[in-house]
Amino acid sequence: MTSRRVCVGVFDSGFGGLTVLKALLELSPDSDYIYFGDTARLPYGSKSAATVAKYALEATQYLERNGAQLLVIACNTATALALDNITAASSVPVVGVVEPGAACAALVSKTRRVAVIGTEATVASHAYLKALASRGVEAEEKACPLLVPLIEEGWIEHPVTEQVARIYLDEVFSDRESAGSADVLVLGCTHYPLIRPLLRRVAPPRVKIVDSAESTAQVVSDQLRAKPPGAASEQERRRVSRQTFFATDSVAKFQHLGARFLGRPIDQVHHVDLRE
Ligand code: DGL
Repeated sequence: MTSRRVCVGVFDSGFGGLTVLKALLELSPDSDYIYFGDTARLPYGSKSAATVAKYALEATQYLERNGAQLLVIACNTATALALDNITAASSVPVVGVVEPGAACAALVSKTRRVAVIGTEATVASHAYLKALASRGVEAEEKACPLLVPLIEEGWIEHPVTEQVARIYLDEVFSDRESAGSADVLVLGCTHYPLIRPLLRRVAPPRVKIVDSAESTAQVVSDQLRAKPPGAASEQERRRVSRQTFFATDSVAKFQHLGARFLGRPIDQVHHVDLRE
């Protein structure tokens, strides 16, 4: 019997998108999820738009072939650089993380000035700046390339990470002319929710933090609620949500690192070689 539950495909360059899956599981625990982490080719954040688009298309098409009925591009870099290419090539709806994050920031900001932190590629694309400008909000974008490796190292509450974050955020918030009055900080990278408490301490107290992962999960959950998959049988209703994980590099590393991002153990990971 085929399930009437919606199968959501979640794509990221690696482990970081598990912060989006974590938020999705909280808001939409009844859906099935297939997660693809392109761990063999990360980081995307320092790559060109053409390369990111090529990788992201291969991965999202894999998710579609494996039953995804809705695609969530959890990676900020892939969303910023390749959302249009992915949407054009997909036969299912696609949700990226930039629009939901920008929409939430625009709602929250009173000064109409927002600071956005992300990878070098996300910042260079100005995807957040454009999404915020279309909502009448100015943006100050700041690339924070050292944060991803520090977080993957597990240095979550670590003096070095705090010092690095302080240097980056000081640069963002000390420029009175541009971001001096920014009252929102958008976490425009999958990894940053892990250091949210640290960023909260380091950012000026007036600044509210908007997490793109949470905003995206809210948008997806609203979409799933608006289009329920149909009347499920009693058996289907009782079945717990299935989560399947695919990674292009070591499954052991994915299980180990991924558990930190998902906040729970990951039992099984399937290795994928996209050249096959
Ligand atoms: N997932 C990426 C993002 O959200 C961060 C890691 C990478 O550079 O691949 O931008």
